[in-house]
Amino acid sequence: MEFYTDLFKTHLQDIIESKEPANLYDPVNYIMTLGGKRIRPALALMSCHLFGVEPSKALDAAMAIEMFHNFTLIHDDIMDRADIRRGKMTVHKKWDLNTGILSGDVLLILSYEQLESYEAGLYKELMQLFNKTAVEVCEGQQMDMDFELRVDVESHEYFKMIRFKTAVLLGCALQMGAKIAEASSTDQRAIYDFGVNLGTAFQLQDDYLDSFGGDDFGKRIGGDILEAKKTFLYLKTLERADAEDREAILEIYTAPLQLANNAPTVDEEVASQRIEKVKALYKKYGADKLLLEEIQDYTHKALESVEGLSLDQQGKAFLREFSNVLMKRKV
Ligand code: IPE
Ligand code: IPE
Ligand code: MG
Ligand code: MG
Ligand code: MG
Repeated sequence: MEFYTDLFKTHLQDIIESKEPANLYDPVNYIMTLGGKRIRPALALMSCHLFGVEPSKALDAAMAIEMFHNFTLIHDDIMDRADIRRGKMTVHKKWDLNTGILSGDVLLILSYEQLESYEAGLYKELMQLFNKTAVEVCEGQQMDMDFELRVDVESHEYFKMIRFKTAVLLGCALQMGAKIAEASSTDQRAIYDFGVNLGTAFQLQDDYLDSFGGDDFGKRIGGDILEAKKTFLYLKTLERADAEDREAILEIYTAPLQLANNAPTVDEEVASQRIEKVKALYKKYGADKLLLEEIQDYTHKALESVEGLSLDQQGKAFLREFSNVLMKRKV
């Protein structure tokens, strides 16, 4: 994977430039060079390569995907009222809200611009896939926010939400690489399914780390709890809790301060107490263990799609290895 992330980083260094107005472009350069795992661009490059074409052919698509991803992060941090991303200040904290909105917008447009280098037929196919995916990401994000205001979210709704907000973009990255390599439609379908299942495991893992991750996670631990996010941990705990615990968790999750739009940030001490209380309940009802099992299940589902690919054993082994590494990530 390092080979692909390095290839991507070199390309990024080549295209990053300081432009005017600085308050529009500095935040773009800031978020794009802030690091991150670069998983999506690496997937696009890797997929192209696995299907027999030089990975550099997929660099523009990889850049489009990573720019799109970073655009969603700027806006997501506004929506989630997050102060920290990749261990640093989020764009709207370092600058301000309006700067976050507009630099996110321009990054989205720049992301689409990357695809202009592909010839007409391929360009159209990439655009169709990208547009469909981007609309789904917005739908997923809206569901995620709608769920903050509900207590009765069902498991199937949650899974649809994470599929849309996160998983389809991983599938899209892989399928774009496959399209550039002119892979068969059967292979395109299978690599997409692989990505969506892996992406589901990836978001489940993100939810796990949001509560139980270490200092190196780069985001505020417990942020999902403070924002009343209806994660797998919450759903399972509520499903299993006795009446008293159910009430305790619901009280925290419906704390009016947290739910009002533009509510002031709660007192730090109150916030940590709420986080600790909820995390203890997650553990008491074994939701953390169930979640780890669910991550494994989705990783295994992803691996089933690998079998259907017309790749040699080495290619398949690579995808298996990658999936298993991703399942154990801490960042
Ligand atoms: C964060 O994505 C948003 C989610 C979909 C969970 P990543 O975990 O890939 O973030 P970076 O790009 O590595 O920082
Ligand atoms: C990420 O969901 C989905 C998108 C950014 C589209 P989260 O809100 O869980 O992502 P993080 O945890 O802030 O990275
Ligand atoms: Mg967020
Ligand atoms: Mg979010
Ligand atoms: Mg998260």
